[in-house]
Amino acid sequence: MKKALLVLLSLLLVCNVSLAEDAVSSATLSVDRLPAVESTGSSILVVYFSTDDTIRAAAYTVAVALSADLFEIQPVEPYTADDVNYHNSQSRTSIEQNNPQARPEIAFLPEDLNQYDTIILGYPIWWGQAPQILYTFVESVDLSGKTVIPFCTSGSSGVGSSATNLQKQASESSVWLDAKRISNGSSAEEIRAWADSLEKEETSMFYIHVNGTVLTVNAENNSSAKALIALLETSDITVSMHDYGSFEKVGSLGADLPRNDEDITTTTGDVILYQGNQITIYYDENRWNFTKLGHIDIGQDELKTILGSDDVTVILSLNP
Ligand SMILES: Cc1cc2nc3c(=O)[nH]c(=O)nc-3n(C[C@H](O)[C@H](O)[C@H](O)COP(=O)(O)O)c2cc1C
Repeated sequence: MKKALLVLLSLLLVCNVSLAEDAVSSATLSVDRLPAVESTGSSILVVYFSTDDTIRAAAYTVAVALSADLFEIQPVEPYTADDVNYHNSQSRTSIEQNNPQARPEIAFLPEDLNQYDTIILGYPIWWGQAPQILYTFVESVDLSGKTVIPFCTSGSSGVGSSATNLQKQASESSVWLDAKRISNGSSAEEIRAWADSLEKEETSMFYIHVNGTVLTVNAENNSSAKALIALLETSDITVSMHDYGSFEKVGSLGADLPRNDEDITTTTGDVILYQGNQITIYYDENRWNFTKLGHIDIGQDELKTILGSDDVTVILSLNP
């Protein structure tokens, strides 16, 4: 019953993404690198792999909610019911998932990812991990500079290490956000709500480029962070920073932002507005009356290594 509903949902949603679906299904499996999606001009591409429609239905829902393009990872050799029999230790998937080197071949790849800055990557959990064909995908396309948002469906397992393991095989300069697990019984409304939250999240992040590394800042929901993001919409901002107090790097923004000062004890990764016109990146604790602009999820040692002990020039940008 559940599967019938999902199939129905996917059929209904196909109408909304029929161009993409036509392109995918009309591609010849033996032909390499056919353009697989009919572009809608979106900067978001939803990529998915599915053998039993759960992820397919979820991917369509997300793509429709975000008016994104859609691409299905299709294996050269489609998975049969016997192949996905996890009760059989000798089935194709049991053997593949037991072999970290397995790279099942993909029939065709997206011709060009240049127009996309965000890739939403959907896969089922197989034996606690992403199917090996996902490794084929992330190693075959250039994800550098892209934001990758992984999501998975499963019977009961969580995301676990599935997304972080995949990330290790992808371009180092791709920025991976936390993966989302959608349980098998989720409704279209729940999936749409997640997609809507992504749209909001996208506009509430900015990036700090420093010494060849990109730090992702999850912006605060206050008028100061919004004003900074509005400034960054017009152009990147270069800030010369110096070390202060053995707990922060600080430099002038060259502009005044609205202040929402409050008594804050900083933690590693806090990005703070000081006196309305200076930005600080904290790698240690400090207590003062100032405004939080956002936070970088990072460990103290890693952040200190990236920032170094001397003066440093950083670029604030909306682009990763
Ligand atoms: C080979 C195989 C292994 C699976 N391993 C797990 C697992 O470890 N944990 C889990 O909760 N579900 C597991 N499942 C269930 C799938 O993750 C789940 O049904 C998923 O939603 C299927 O997506 P699809 O219908 O798009 O292919 C497995 C399914 C298959 C076929």
